[in-house]
Amino acid sequence: MLAPKPEIRIAANAEELSRAAAAEFARRTKEAAQRKGLVTVVLSGGSTPKNLYSLLASEQLLRAQLPLCQMHFFWGDERHVPPDHPESNYRMANEAMLTSLPVPPANIHRIKSEYQDAKQAADEYEQQLRHFFQLQAGEFPRFDLVLLGMGPDGHTASLFPGTAALHERERLVVANWVAKFNAYRITMTVPVLNQAACVIFLVSGEEKAEMLRAVLCGDRAELYPSQLIRPVNGALLWLVDRAAARLLSEED
Ligand code: 6PG
Repeated sequence: MLAPKPEIRIAANAEELSRAAAAEFARRTKEAAQRKGLVTVVLSGGSTPKNLYSLLASEQLLRAQLPLCQMHFFWGDERHVPPDHPESNYRMANEAMLTSLPVPPANIHRIKSEYQDAKQAADEYEQQLRHFFQLQAGEFPRFDLVLLGMGPDGHTASLFPGTAALHERERLVVANWVAKFNAYRITMTVPVLNQAACVIFLVSGEEKAEMLRAVLCGDRAELYPSQLIRPVNGALLWLVDRAAARLLSEED
């Protein structure tokens, strides 16, 4: 059975993309909090979401909608660096947003990427997820909202082309060796991301246009890691700007 076509929304530019993403983030988290009393959000790393995070922290109208006391923040992936490292995804989100919002510290669930052994960091995060979601063996957590980016090579989270993590279907979190960085990354796995109630990809910039067309319109469905992300029972929204969408045709 063909997966339902993802929803694609094209914003005029990166600023409009961030604003559309912030509105969607606020709407979905507020609704989930009203419905469930608790909201679990997976943050993305990279540069694209930084402005989104800043908007959520600084724009009063957006900030007022956020159910902060009921929101729990997780990360979809992390570099194998300490939390104060310039490349840390935790540090980026913390500085852009979390330090400016009254989020209870217990609601911030970062990956402890300072461990010397990346596998230990992954194992520990997996146990954190199992405990938080009270999972039985073989169960996967269902996050209310997952934010993802996409690299020009089609990677998402730290699921890079040709890496072992792409094939993991049992673990929740793994240490993934990424040869091109000569480094480990810690990443949530495909089955975890696909259990989400909503996945939003944020893609901006001309340099993503070729890959965005290949991922959304290519005739091979699972050639690139980003194509593996199709929530089994949830929404998939691609929020892209016009520069990234340059090669998409009208009917896409
Ligand atoms: C990371 C992200 C990664 C990112 C893409 C896009 O750790 O960097 O998880 O998957 O989302 O590389 O990054 P940009 O937003 O910087 O283009």
